[in-house]
Order: sequence, then structure tokens, then C-alpha cells
Amino acid sequence: MSGEGGGGNGGAGDAGLHGGRRVVRAVGRLSGSLTVPGDKSITHRAVMFNAIATGTATVTGAGLGGDCLSTAGAMRMLGARVRRRWASGELTDDLRRDPVTGVDTRDDAVLLVDGAGLGGLREPHDVIDAGNSGTTARLLAGILAGQPFFSVLTGDGSLRGRPMGRVTAPLGVMGAQVRGRAGSTLLPLAISPAPLSGVTIDIPVASAQLKSALILAGLYASGETVIVSPGESRDHTERMLAAQGADVRTEGLSVRVRRPSGLRAIDVEVPGDISSAAFWLVAACIHPDAAVTVRNVGVNPTRTGIIDALTLMGATITVTNERTVGGEPVADLTASSCRLRGVHIGGAIIPRLIDEVPVLAVAAAVATGTTTIRDAAELRVKESDRLLAVATHLAALGVAVAEHPDGLTITGGRIAGGEVASEGDHRIAMALAVGALVATGPVTIGGAAAVDISYPAFWRTLARIGPGCLGDEAADRSDGGNRPESGGDGNTLRLATPTPLIGIRFADAPKGGSGR
Ligand code: S3P
Repeated sequence: MSGEGGGGNGGAGDAGLHGGRRVVRAVGRLSGSLTVPGDKSITHRAVMFNAIATGTATVTGAGLGGDCLSTAGAMRMLGARVRRRWASGELTDDLRRDPVTGVDTRDDAVLLVDGAGLGGLREPHDVIDAGNSGTTARLLAGILAGQPFFSVLTGDGSLRGRPMGRVTAPLGVMGAQVRGRAGSTLLPLAISPAPLSGVTIDIPVASAQLKSALILAGLYASGETVIVSPGESRDHTERMLAAQGADVRTEGLSVRVRRPSGLRAIDVEVPGDISSAAFWLVAACIHPDAAVTVRNVGVNPTRTGIIDALTLMGATITVTNERTVGGEPVADLTASSCRLRGVHIGGAIIPRLIDEVPVLAVAAAVATGTTTIRDAAELRVKESDRLLAVATHLAALGVAVAEHPDGLTITGGRIAGGEVASEGDHRIAMALAVGALVATGPVTIGGAAAVDISYPAFWRTLARIGPGCLGDEAADRSDGGNRPESGGDGNTLRLATPTPLIGIRFADAPKGGSGR
């Protein structure tokens, strides 16, 4: 094991996410055609589920932000092998550094995952550190609850403050022995071996992380486990496990799962992350002279709330080149300058744009009229309290914003220059940077390094679609990845290796089913 060690956020460190500073200025034009990192949710699952499968899987287009490095590190500690295959053909345990150029290059990664088998994980020699990653911690808790060995799971300061009782309580009902701080509602969690029984569980929040944790525990339980959600949430777990041969069936808001004899390794081609694409879509919509195309974006309907919300606000997001590969829809998305108007966003759409609310709030800040966002109390327990962070920092930039227990009211107008901070939260850093592209003065963003969690090349890409917006810092090449092909001009971002389409196929057999 090397590079990623025992998990954690891939090197940025707890304090690192609050470090770094960027000054972003408005520029005259935004344009480009670009790709974004591989979908974080799908990358996590491709690594984690293949690590408990039999065989070797190739995961192409993987996004290797800090969160996914945490998952890779954790699965290594449990006995799976995760390596990176470089363009040169070389295989390395170091997932970050190109062995030929020495450059930290995280996007478009090709990973090889040698699975330990469903029953083949081994007791970790140390505490597993999920870093900043809620997906790693919660999904892994579901897997660890069913293992015949002891394990301890922790995370960074942010993750240790996030609710785990929603996972530990239903796991306890299944028979799991999980203990943790604050009555087993906070990390670290200590998990002891115990037989699990399938039960029917009504979960209180439409959370894909919670649903997935219980589906994974269901793979290790006797009988049938039924998870009933109060609303729709992303369904990548169900699609991928079914494609791996698990008996996972979705009926409306219920998911039924039974213990399989094993899981097949499957090759996964990861699409671009719509949650990362959202920053460029909003940037193009709010800027007066902009046209941006993001190619190869995953458009699973459980994730496309941001397109629906921007459309409701008056934007035209053009969806082209739509195709379905291995059961996941993929498309190219184009957005350009438009007049946005205030709308109400709430109810069932919220889980479909849960990670996009900060950047949606930036769109609302320059829309005509008032936008209300409600039913989004979940945002208070993300990497930061995102309602508080958005309200605080948009207000610091002169935006009229009121905070509610479950949302925000934002009256559109102008965004002023000023000093703001990411609160160690990657999506807050990027949302504020998008707002800065239309601000009336320079915006200084503290905690700029937080982007490493999901989008290590964010600042470089920003400098390319808006030349001059970062001044001299555009020349900073230390954040890795996403360099254009030679011949690319300052306004057009063409990546050397296109992000592949998503596809799921069996590693050892011809193209398999969609996994629905
Ligand atoms: C995720 C689900 C969402 C999302 C998170 C990733 C996943 O969380 O906010 O960034 O990969 O399952 P919840 O399902 O808990 O809302």
C-alpha cells in the first residue's frame, strides 16, 4: 500500500481544506468545451463494490478527488488491491503521480481493482479514515457491519460532526454491533462481528448514502432486506450491484435485496460528474457573454434536478448527443448567457440537486426577483452547514439572503466583491468562485484548497474558460490534471484524454445487462 495510506482525504488533510486562497475577478467572456472529473458517486461505488467482488475490474474515467482516494485507501486496508494504469501501460499503487512526468494528475484515471470477494475482506490493521467523505463512511459502515472481524471507522473534523445515527440505528435493528460517540450517532464507530438479519426498514430521509449502506448490509444478511425511502434519491448503487449479479430490485420507493453467493467484478466507464458540471452551467447562465459545453456528463434522472431548476429559472440548457451505455444515460450539456428569474425550489426535486444548491443560490443571487429554496434541511449536515455558509458568504458579497431552518430566500441583484471562505467545503469554494465571475469587484476566497475533494483541477479549468479571472495564478500548475491538448487556445478547453462514456459490463464476459 502506498500513496493513499489508510484513507483520509488523499493528502489535503483536515487543516488543508481550510487552506489556500484565490482571488477571482470578473472577465469579459466565458467560453469553452470541456470535460469534468468522473462522477464521484459512481467512482466510489465502482471501487468499493468491485473490491468486494470476485475478479479484476477496470474502472475508466474515475474521478480521483480526495473523497474517492479515501475509498480506495479504505478498500486496500480491507484486502482489495487498487492500482492505476497510466498511458505508458505502467501500473502503480500510487494513484496520483504520473510515473513518467511526476505530475499529480487525477482526472480520467484508469483503475484496476482486484476484488477480495464478498466474503474475502480481512480485518484492517488500523483505524479506517474516511477523511472528508460521507459516502465512504456511510457505505462502508454497511459493509463492515456484516464482516466477521472488528473494525474502527473515523473521518476528519467535518465528518466526525456529521450524523451517523441514521445508519447505525437501522444497522442495529438488523443485528449489527456498532458503537460510537454520542450514543453511536457520531464517528468514530467501532464495529464488532454479529450476524445480520434482513428486515423492512422505513428510512427517515431520502438519502442515497443511507439507502446504500443498508443495501450493502443486506448483501451480508440472512433473508430479505427491504429499504423504503420517503422520496427518490440517486440509484447508482442499485444499478451497479444488479449488474454485478446481486438480487437487488427496485419497486417504487422500495429496494429489496437478498444475500448473493458472490458479486461479479464489472468494468465501469465513469461519466463526467453533473455535480461538477453544474458550476460551469451556472457560470455560463449568469455571465453576460458566455457559452460553455460540458461533454460526457452523466444525466441519470435522479441527478438532473439542476437542469430542471435552471430551466424553470428561464435558462436554456441544451442536451445533445444523448446516449445510454450500460444502463446510465450520458449527454453533452451546453449553457449560455440568459436572463434568470426567481423561482421556488422545494419538495421532490431537492434530492435530485442536493449537492447543487450552493451554486443554484449563486444563480438566484443574480436572477430577477426572489428565489426560495425549501425542504433542504439536509444541507445543514453536509461537509459544512451549507445553508449557513451560503447565507453568510453571499451576504458578505452584498446579496440579500435570508436563512430558514430548511432553506434560503434570495433576492436577486448584484454580487459585490469581498472576502469569503469555503468553510473547508469544496462545493462552497466552487460556488463562490462562480459568483465571483460576475461580481462588481474582486472576490478573495479562503479555503480554496477544498476543491481537491471533488475537483482537483477546478482552478485551472476556471482560468481556461475565463482567461484572466485568476490573474497570474492561472499559471499555477500545482493542482494537477485537466491540461488541454497542444493547440488548444485560451478559450477552448480540449482535454488530452476524453472522459469515456459510462458503461457497465462484466469483466470476464461480453457486454452485460444494464443492471437496473
Ligand atoms: C451521495 C449522496 C448524497 C450526496 C453526496 C453523495 C452518494 O448524499 O449529497 O454528495 O454518493 O450517495 P445523501 O444521499 O446523504 O443526501
